[in-house]
Amino acid sequence: MTLSPRLFVLISILAPASVHAQSRVASPDGRNQIAVEIRDGRLVYGVTRDGRALILPSVLGFEFNSAPRLRDSLRVTDTTRQSVDETWTQPWGEVTRVRDHHNELKVSVAETAAPNRRFTVAFRAFNDGVAFRYEFPAQPNLGDFEITNELTEFALADNGRAWWIASNRPRLDRSEQLYSSAPVSTLDSVQTPLTIELRDGKTIIVIHEANLVDYARMNLTGARMENRTLRADLAPYADGIKVRGKTPFVTPWRTIQIADRVTDLSPSVLGLNLNPPSVIPNTSWIKPMKYVGIWWGMHIGTMTWSSGPKHGATTTNAKHYIDFAAANGIGGVLVEGWNVGWDGNWIDNRNAFSFTQPYPDYDLAEVARYAHQKGVRLIVHNETSGGIENYERQMDSAFALYHSLGVDAIKSGYVTDKVGSGDSHWGQFMVRHYRHVLEKAAQYQIAMDVHEPIHDTGERRTYPNMLSREGARGQEYNAWGGEGGNPPEHETVLFFTRLLAGPMDFTPGIFDILREHTGPPRRNDQPRVRTTLAKQLALYVVIYSPLQMAADLPENYENQPAFQFIRDVAVDWDTTRVLEGKIGDYVVVARRERNGPSWFIGAITDEEARTFDVPLTFLEPGRRYVAEIYADGPGANWLTNPLPVTFSRRAVTRASRLSLALAPGGGQAIRIRPATPGRPMP
Ligand code: NOJ
Ligand code: CA
Repeated sequence: MTLSPRLFVLISILAPASVHAQSRVASPDGRNQIAVEIRDGRLVYGVTRDGRALILPSVLGFEFNSAPRLRDSLRVTDTTRQSVDETWTQPWGEVTRVRDHHNELKVSVAETAAPNRRFTVAFRAFNDGVAFRYEFPAQPNLGDFEITNELTEFALADNGRAWWIASNRPRLDRSEQLYSSAPVSTLDSVQTPLTIELRDGKTIIVIHEANLVDYARMNLTGARMENRTLRADLAPYADGIKVRGKTPFVTPWRTIQIADRVTDLSPSVLGLNLNPPSVIPNTSWIKPMKYVGIWWGMHIGTMTWSSGPKHGATTTNAKHYIDFAAANGIGGVLVEGWNVGWDGNWIDNRNAFSFTQPYPDYDLAEVARYAHQKGVRLIVHNETSGGIENYERQMDSAFALYHSLGVDAIKSGYVTDKVGSGDSHWGQFMVRHYRHVLEKAAQYQIAMDVHEPIHDTGERRTYPNMLSREGARGQEYNAWGGEGGNPPEHETVLFFTRLLAGPMDFTPGIFDILREHTGPPRRNDQPRVRTTLAKQLALYVVIYSPLQMAADLPENYENQPAFQFIRDVAVDWDTTRVLEGKIGDYVVVARRERNGPSWFIGAITDEEARTFDVPLTFLEPGRRYVAEIYADGPGANWLTNPLPVTFSRRAVTRASRLSLALAPGGGQAIRIRPATPGRPMP
């Protein structure tokens, strides 16, 4: 058959159309849309919300060691679609039920010339954001590979204001920095989650990653050089290679959370929905809890981790903390400095740590027995100083020992700028290590609280024993000289940045705010806490963590009526509502406890005094409650007068409104519990 010229034209329009056309996928509510197409041989994606561009066409691809770049001369070979609407239950969390409702588009591409490699990009559009990941099938010309650069771009349409911490300075490999804000076009190398306020003064986007399992951590770089285009910047091995792998292979998800206002960002579940369901069949042994610990004393210098007259981790001391926990309904006790290896420079001597041998004045088995008898859980501390081989070598025997003693929680630590192998703290080597520890811990029924961790990419869904982690400047900075402490705005930034990734072991609850009540007045740059006492209470509600420390020395809680709030506050939540918020200025959060009717409100402000009018419409209709209010007292001020706290009770219903007055650098913490029937309202 010969084709008529007309028919031929028609076919040639149709055929390339299926190759060059744009494919689109929209969120279930239709508002977020991802468009994918080949442009000049490259696969690009763009993102719009309500038809307005958020991410302009952005290139996807890779560079390899001893293989050509995989980016150019691509053609689309296939597209597939799928929709998901499932609701799942978290064993613990900021919310009980999570809905995973998305539409997926998978676009497969192949190089049109040798070596004819292929890959697929899976795009998912959710109502709260979009995500994509690369999937490499097994193929003849792409087997073992070494990625030297991931070319993923995020070309921001708007020169929004980003809240950032650096990924390349001032201390390598650390997330323990204060945030700054600046237009995207001025960014250099920054960490994720990267929160960006668009110039409409409303819309917020957050770039991060999810399900980081066997890959290098993603930072972002380059906006300064290339206007508003951020590029993936993977943390390297010591030899500069970013990722070693073998097809079939999938990358982590690149996520862009999108919200109409900052108060809609949290609780953030986008990353959780992009992780596989739990692999731990019975999670009943994984318990959210509050804890106290032999810890703050070392940071303020009244105790030592090392052996000697001020050694903190003695059997007697540990029992004292256990007694205190038991008497106050606090679930756990952390003991640091219990194991041999702390003497001398414990960062340089990373390989000297034993994870089984206690110091002679600490009887681990006896302390574990005593804790058990008192109904308190012992949290064992494992500081590795980045001595990964030393730790991995001992892990089995150590975890078996802890398990045999009934210990089911570890706080680990990685204080170092470079791990022993010389690889980046955030590279694939360490990503694998952190995951390996988590899996090993699950095997021995141990929950983890990791300090100096890899950033949170939602692995708690798959491994719910990943209870908490640090990964930001915590309270410890307020104990040290020279570092300047955390300024009053700090936690109001954390809430909208780092905390979107997941729980943080911030360790709130320092009551001895000034550390010394006598002697000459302290200068502002001397170590102290830069909040009021009421704000320390509010942090228990604001900063989400299923492990929540009462960080101060037990003696500093004695005769302190405000300590009652720490006794009462929940650590596991059914519902979370952000009532007010402005990044760097203030946050007001309400959370309902899991399996109970009580609500808790935490409100914090920066150095400005503020008042919030809070309607209690979230309370159950027809129910009478009592609000127990811990507020900044008369004249309270973080700088000059941080300690006054007033306590009051008020009868409330869902028709009530509360007026929350916060002092400069202050806060307010409220428990709203059902009124006891028959008892008169106060
Ligand atoms: C830093 C951790 O953040 C801190 O909590 C711990 O006490 C020290 N490292 C020692 O491991
Ligand atoms: Ca730390």
